[in-house]
Amino acid sequence: MNIFNRLTPRYITLIFSFMTILLLFTQNPIDNTVDSFDDSIFQVSCSCKSCVMGFMDDDWFIYRYDPSITPLLNRKNSVLRRDTYRWWRGLQPSMFRINYTEVVDQMFSLFPDKEHYSDAGPDRCRTCAVVGNSANLLGSHYGSLIDFHDVVIRINKGPTKGYERDVGSKTTHRILYPESAMDLDNSTHLVLFPFKIRDMQWLISTFTTRHITRTYTRVKPSIKADENKVMVLHPAFIKYVYEKWLLKHGRYPSTGFITIIFAMHICDQVNVFGFGASSTGTWHHYFDRTRTHYKGGPHGGDFENKTIHQLQQRNKISIYKGYR
Ligand code: C5P
Repeated sequence: MNIFNRLTPRYITLIFSFMTILLLFTQNPIDNTVDSFDDSIFQVSCSCKSCVMGFMDDDWFIYRYDPSITPLLNRKNSVLRRDTYRWWRGLQPSMFRINYTEVVDQMFSLFPDKEHYSDAGPDRCRTCAVVGNSANLLGSHYGSLIDFHDVVIRINKGPTKGYERDVGSKTTHRILYPESAMDLDNSTHLVLFPFKIRDMQWLISTFTTRHITRTYTRVKPSIKADENKVMVLHPAFIKYVYEKWLLKHGRYPSTGFITIIFAMHICDQVNVFGFGASSTGTWHHYFDRTRTHYKGGPHGGDFENKTIHQLQQRNKISIYKGYR
């Protein structure tokens, strides 16, 4: 008779249990802990005191932040996936039929066709100030603190003249689109946020024929800016912000929110100014009385604010709230 036939089920269970325990204890405990992590997450990501990428040990952040995404468009990275193209074309639908590939080609025969900001590394410390347009900047005296950053990103029409004490005077990058365009000086990068393909056409027109005077509203046919400093946000980046950072809240992300995520991809340290209501609860610009908080608009305002708050809580950005 075979020996196994003689063993009762009780003995078989006992033998298996013993073998399992033996296996567990003979394995090197270190194999189960430290070595199973990817070493690269513990590498120093920049030389600032605190870095956006930090130790990449925060699951909430790791789930959202994609270090491989390219924020800015160039000819080489311009091909869009079919779903991205469809989503982007639906943001601000227009009646104009425009060929994306031709427009990209025209853009990058005029403007720098480069791979921007691919220089991240342990020796870099690029500090960035993102300056929103909230009235909470008034009376803040943040001007010199803002100007102290390597990169100062301003948004839309936010002026500096007359507000230097509170908002500073340096602008290295200005985020705009046709409906919010203004003249820039020669030291400022124009960063187009294209919410529609017509915006790209407008950009070309403003430096050449100046024939585009309308999108969904009247727009400036030309602006002053250095064409060698023009950059264009990648349409896929807008979708990335919407899906990964906003989990599809709202219809598409606001300019200010995209700008913060953009800064987190091109900078090592991000400080945010001029976002949110003033202490009296009002949502105005620092430079006019336009109300800026619209419930029911295309953007998921509350979710954006919660996400910005999370980023601060997790030490990925710092928010300067102003004094008023
Ligand atoms: O009003 P505008 O879109 O030009 O402002 C740029 C950005 O500044 C907004 O997208 C928003 O994120 C931020 N902002 C704010 N609070 C305000 C005004 C603007 O957070 N009261």
